[in-house]
Amino acid sequence: MSSLLVKNGTIVTATDRYRADVFIKDEKVVAIADSLDESADRVIDAQGCYLFPGGIDAHTHMELPFMGTFASDTFHSGTLAGLYGGTTTIVDFAIQTQGDSLEAAIQEWHRKADGHAVGDYAFHCAVTDFNEDTRKEIPRVINEHGINSFKTFMAYKGALMVDDRQMFELMKELVKHGGIITTHAENGDMVDHLVQKFLSEGKTEPRYHVLSRPAICEAEASGRAIDLAYQADCPLYIVHMTCEEALARVKAAAARNQKVHVETCVQYLLLDESLYFQEGFEGAKVVMSPPLRKPKDQEALWAAINQNLVQHVATDHCPFCSDQKEMGIDNFSKIPNGAPGIENRFELMYSEGVAQERISLNKFVEVTSTMAAKIFGLFPRKGTIAVGSDADIVVFDPDKKHTISAETHHMRVDYSAYEGWEVQGKCRQTILRGTVAIDDNVPLVEEGFGKYLPREPFNRRY
Ligand code: URP
Ligand code: ZN
Ligand code: ZN
Repeated sequence: MSSLLVKNGTIVTATDRYRADVFIKDEKVVAIADSLDESADRVIDAQGCYLFPGGIDAHTHMELPFMGTFASDTFHSGTLAGLYGGTTTIVDFAIQTQGDSLEAAIQEWHRKADGHAVGDYAFHCAVTDFNEDTRKEIPRVINEHGINSFKTFMAYKGALMVDDRQMFELMKELVKHGGIITTHAENGDMVDHLVQKFLSEGKTEPRYHVLSRPAICEAEASGRAIDLAYQADCPLYIVHMTCEEALARVKAAAARNQKVHVETCVQYLLLDESLYFQEGFEGAKVVMSPPLRKPKDQEALWAAINQNLVQHVATDHCPFCSDQKEMGIDNFSKIPNGAPGIENRFELMYSEGVAQERISLNKFVEVTSTMAAKIFGLFPRKGTIAVGSDADIVVFDPDKKHTISAETHHMRVDYSAYEGWEVQGKCRQTILRGTVAIDDNVPLVEEGFGKYLPREPFNRRY
């Protein structure tokens, strides 16, 4: 039996903010009170610090095989980097290989993660080939593997993309069994056409990545997914939304009383498309899909967070090193799509969100942790600080400043999209299930400490 007492901190949840002591036994929070004097194996004095629920990043891709290479973080390195930056739980995507089963994908993701992840993890299941065999697998994926969320790609034609019929039929099946559909919303045919057009004109630089994926292409696919989900009466979660035009489709859905869940990612709030227009090949670092957008879209996304239209801020962490990006040196469409971010999300959202007064402290907790736990069936085990919940707590010093750099980060990638950014606030201790995992920048957990999290079927009354 291990025990930990965290004294004098200010607990912040999605709804509350109060000064209290927290007593942890084994993996759970067992007492919260004004003043506790339990004897404990260790006492942390959190005077002057916030106690936040451990961050949840509901969109990561560790070791993803993609575009002829693999994302450079393993479940070990990626979840460790997450812990340094206050993220204690990830939800990664087990992606079906076309022609193969969902079961094979899930087993493959377990092989990569089990015994290696240091942070806790769950999986979404990405369906790239919905057929009669796949249909039969759905109940087992939900009830036996504890995976309630199913991803479709409306882009990446010829590799991951499904058509509308597959998506609609999958939705109808999920309604029967308690699943939620999540989707990467871009019109894959439109993208494909524009990519071929630019290449045929000899336009090969990174800037043509954004020019071949205009906002309308994301808005159209978002609207189509929303309509299909409306007709199927299926809960829908749109991943990595980037722009005002797509948000307009979500607002239109709200006007007809349809609830659409929306995720954005920290890079879409903080970086813009001008990065693609830098000299040389520099723009390749931020080649991701959908691409970065305009400053007016960043404003729209921050507003949408405050209007509850966007519920979660993830990362889509999918890092590739510079030499991997160079696979597209002569052809922008061959640059592996994706960028790193898991280590920076939580602190950047505090620094650029709370400290810059764009969002409140409670909203910060809601979008970095609580809502992801609720939507994906992990609440109240995860996503809050409460008696009975897993003791996943970030002791956060709001006064400590630091500077982001690839030289000092822990993600396995040789650049940072935020190189040189000054950040207000720092995770001092990251506690995962009652164990101090990171202590003042020192890792204290071994490879394999992370646990797989089976999840409940989707509950519309979360
Ligand atoms: O560019 C991206 N987003 N890469 C990862 C795969 C995806 O689309 O989420
Ligand atoms: Zn995507
Ligand atoms: Zn992704």
